[in-house]
This record gives sequence, structure tokens and C-alpha cells, in this order.
Amino acid sequence: MIVKRISDESFGDLGVIEFANLSFVCQRAYWITNFVQGNSRGNHAHKTLTQFVIVLSGSVTFELFRGKAREVVVLTANDGGILIHPGTWRKFYSHISSSVVMVLCNQEYREEDYIRKWDEYQDWFSINYES
Ligand code: TYD
Repeated sequence: MIVKRISDESFGDLGVIEFANLSFVCQRAYWITNFVQGNSRGNHAHKTLTQFVIVLSGSVTFELFRGKAREVVVLTANDGGILIHPGTWRKFYSHISSSVVMVLCNQEYREEDYIRKWDEYQDWFSINYES
């Protein structure tokens, strides 16, 4: 288990990630706050980036696609995180604007690693994972 939680009914909850338990070396962390209702974030895939995503507050729905195969994961602050492998199209949203998502990454930010068009992603996925 990557995320460990220590709950104390007198003082609240503490979460911890030992980086040694991640399957990659963390090179970047970013976080998302102020979710706008009715809009989703993500809507892209990465060619080589691996990410570990945790929800620090609220509740966030992640739609993950491997090609056209879709998985839906709802994460709250009480859950562990999800590992998002390269080649995964992701879309996520929250019905709670104060939700907070933290993302750990194995690489620096590089726009060239993104695939931001769904049709392009489908072509790229079939060449790289289905042929
Ligand atoms: P993006 O990854 O497209 O966010 P989302 O898919 O959640 O909407 O990033 C939004 C913008 O922020 C985009 O212009 C790229 C920029 N950005 C950085 O400059 N550095 C980063 O580490 C990240 C994640 C994004």
C-alpha cells in the first residue's frame, strides 16, 4: 500500500507516502484546486509519463481509458491513490469545488509528451499497444 493513513479520533487524520514505496522516482508534484462545476480536466494522455494521483480533500471521479476500454474510479481523501501508466487517456472532475488532487510524476513537464486529441490518441494507442 503506497498511501498510509494514521487516524486519530482526537486529532484527525494523517496521510503519508514513503517515496521508496513508489514504483518511480518522483521528479515533480503538482496539485489541483478550485474545481469548476460542469467542466472536466485532463482530457489527454501522456506518451511516457507515469503518475500517482491522490485526492487530499473532497471527492474526484477519474475516467481512465486504455484505448477505448474505460474504467471509472471515484477517489476521496480516505482512499489510496491510483497509478496512471503511460498511454492512459484520463478525464476527471469533481462535484465539490473545494476538492484537492495531488499528482506525483516521474518526469518534468514536457508538452511534447502530451496527446491532447482523442482521435490522435486512438491512433497512437493502436500503433503502440495493439499492433
Ligand atoms: P494540463 O496538464 O493540461 O492540465 P489539465 O489536463 O488538468 O487541465 O495543464 C494545464 C496547463 O498548465 C497547461 O498549459 C500546461 C501547464 N502545466 C505546466 O506548466 N506544468 C505542469 O507541471 C503541469 C501539470 C501543467
